[in-house]
Amino acid sequence: MEPQTPQAEPAPSHPPLESLAVQPLVNRDHESRPALFYERLRAEYGPVAPVDVLGVPAWLVIGYPQTLDILRDTRGIWSRRLDSWRARREGRVPADWPLLPAYGFDMSVYSDGADLSRLRGAWAEGLRPFQDRTRPQAKELEQAIRRYADELITVLSEGGRTGWADLSAQYARPLPMMVMGRLLGAGTGYGDEVVMDVWRVLDGGPDAAEAAGRLLADLTRVCADKKTAPGEDLPSYMLAATPDLTVDELAREMVLLAGLIGDFTGTLVCNTIAEVIIGETGARDSLSAGMIQEAVNRAAISSPPMSNLTFRWPKVDVRVGRFQIAAGDPVMLSPAAAHLDPAFSDGAAADSIYSSRAHLTWGAGPHACLGRDLATTITTIAVERLFDRFSGVRLALPADQLPWRSSPMMRGLRSLPVNYELAAPPPEPPAGPSDTGAAEDPAEPESESLVRRLLRAMRLAQG
Ligand code: HEM
Repeated sequence: MEPQTPQAEPAPSHPPLESLAVQPLVNRDHESRPALFYERLRAEYGPVAPVDVLGVPAWLVIGYPQTLDILRDTRGIWSRRLDSWRARREGRVPADWPLLPAYGFDMSVYSDGADLSRLRGAWAEGLRPFQDRTRPQAKELEQAIRRYADELITVLSEGGRTGWADLSAQYARPLPMMVMGRLLGAGTGYGDEVVMDVWRVLDGGPDAAEAAGRLLADLTRVCADKKTAPGEDLPSYMLAATPDLTVDELAREMVLLAGLIGDFTGTLVCNTIAEVIIGETGARDSLSAGMIQEAVNRAAISSPPMSNLTFRWPKVDVRVGRFQIAAGDPVMLSPAAAHLDPAFSDGAAADSIYSSRAHLTWGAGPHACLGRDLATTITTIAVERLFDRFSGVRLALPADQLPWRSSPMMRGLRSLPVNYELAAPPPEPPAGPSDTGAAEDPAEPESESLVRRLLRAMRLAQG
C-alpha cells in the first residue's frame, strides 16, 4: 500500500482529530527516553498518531516511508502556508498557544509554490560562496571556524590542564553564533548585538519576547544597510541574486538563519559531542577511526536536532496509515521517530562502517535544508578541534541524568557538563584582547573579545 493515499480507497471511519483521545507530545518520556515514547505510539497507532502539541491536537507522522513521502510531496497536496490551517481559520487555536510565535514570521518555511521558489533561489545563491569549497569565501570561512573553535577551547580551559566545562554553553552554542556574525558581515558593527539577542531568545528567558522584537529590528537594520551598501556577506549575496527582495522579507529570512545556525547547528554540535562521549551509537568508533563526518552523520540520525518539524497541512483529505487526515488538519513530521521505524533502521547492517545517508534530519523535497553543507562543516570542525585539543573528556554526571530540553520540536541539551584534560598545557593567558596565538583575521580584529563577551553573556543568562 502507498504511504499516503489521497481519496483512493474508502476512508477509514473514525472520529475527527479534535475528538480523538490525543496523547500529550511533551512528556517526561519524550524528553528523557524518546525512543520508548515513539515505540509506544507506533505499537498503539501505527505510522501516524494523534497527539496533543501543548494544547493543540495534531497528527504526528512517525513512519519512515510516510514521512519521506509527505516531505517529497510529489502530488503537490501538502501546504506549508499558515492559512491552510483549518482550526486557525475558524478561530479555534488559542491566541496564547506557546508555539504561535514560532509560526509568526512569514518566511520561506511557511511558503509554497512561486513564493517558495523565489526565496529558496535567494538562499541557494546567497549561501553558494560559503558552501562551495572551491570558492575563496568558503575556504576563509573554514579557517575562521577552526580559529573560533580554538579560541573558545583556549578560553574555556584557562583554569588549567584539567577542569570542568559546560560544552553546550561554552562551546557548542557560541561557535555557530560567531559564524552567524561573520555571515551577516559582523564588521558592520551589528554582529555583537545580534549575537547577544539570539542568546536571550534561545535561552527563553523572561526578556525573550523583547529580545525577539529587538532581533527582528536589528536584523532589519542589518538588511537595510546591505540594501544601500552591499558587502561580501550572506544578505548582500541574497539581494544580488533576488534584487526585488524587500528589506522586511530579507530580515525575516535572517531571523530564520538565527534559528538554523544558532539553535539547530549548535544543537548538532552538542549532540555529536555527547554521543561521542557516551559511546553508544557508533559515533565514538567513527571518530576513533578518523571518520569525523561519519560520526556527525550517526549523531544526526540518532539525535536529529529538529526531532519534529513545524506543521504542514494537507490541501485535500488524505489517508495516512490507519487514519483519514482531513484537509487543513495540522500534521507534524517526526524525523526522530522515522529513524526508529524498522523500515529505516532494519536497512542498516549493525556492523557497517557507514551509516545511512537516507535519513531525514535535513528534511527532503521542496523544503529540504539548503544549509546542510555549512552546518556539517561547522559541526565537523567543532568536533575535530575539541577531540584534538582534549586528551580526555568525560561526562560530569551520569548519561541518564543529562538535562534534555523540554521541547515539542527540538532534541537538544540544556547543558553538557564535562571534566576535561587538555592534550597539551594551556597557552599562556592572553596579554591583550587579540593575543590568542591564533592567526588574526583583519576582518575581525577583536574576535577574542567577541568570545569573551559571548561567554560572559551566557554566564549572566544562566546566573
Ligand atoms: C544542524 C543544523 C541544521 C539542521 C538539522 C537543519 C534541518 C533542516 C530541516 C529539517 C529543514 C526542512 C524543514 C521542513 O521541511 O519542515 C531545513 C530547511 C532549511 N534549512 Fe536547514 N538545518 C540546519 C542548518 C541550516 C543552516 C546553517 C542553514 C543556512 C545557513 C539552513 C538553511 C535552511 C533553509 C534555507 C531551509 C529551507 C526552508 C524551506 O524551504 O522551507 N539550515 N533545515
